[in-house]
Amino acid sequence: MSAPKIPLDDLRVYCEDCRACPLWEGRTNLVFGVGNPEARVLIVGEAPGKNEDLQGEPFVGKAGQSLNRLLSLAGLERDDVYIANVLKCRPPSNRNPRPEEIQACTPFLREQTRTIDPEYIVTLGNFSTKFILKTEVGITRLHGKLQSAGKFKVFPIFHPAAAIYDRSKMAALEDDFATLGKLLSGEIQL
Ligand code: URA
Repeated sequence: MSAPKIPLDDLRVYCEDCRACPLWEGRTNLVFGVGNPEARVLIVGEAPGKNEDLQGEPFVGKAGQSLNRLLSLAGLERDDVYIANVLKCRPPSNRNPRPEEIQACTPFLREQTRTIDPEYIVTLGNFSTKFILKTEVGITRLHGKLQSAGKFKVFPIFHPAAAIYDRSKMAALEDDFATLGKLLSGEIQL
């Protein structure tokens, strides 16, 4: 028999109480996740930045504005999906998260995923792709190619923030979100 799923509100409370790594000391808000708890699509980013930490919601800064536009290319709005990060607290100066911080946060994303039970997990960027797929293969090779992790379909896409610094990635991002829309509508199967 599989373990019971934990309601998201209960999980948020456990997460708010978390003191398992030092990141909680520096946080203004916990950035648990937001959106439709019954979404077909779970979007997984890396970790909150400054704006997310201040507002307690993932992807509300520049990368978030870009994500909103890209979602529309897939025929989606923010309320259609659930958005969460691997890390729920902001790493100082947005440095790369340490292994012990990732390990401490892992149970929260795992339980969020079990409870939401999406059909697709869209991983944004290298870090979340490697984390979900347990692979060393980078996003440059994997983006736009449908993968799987257990029962979930996984669709890796560049991180929208990457295109803010490297405009050449925007075309790939737009193509991949358009492909996601076609997968969701059943227009194509990869
Ligand atoms: N980048 C992320 O990976 N997550 C956020 O919430 C914001 C920016």
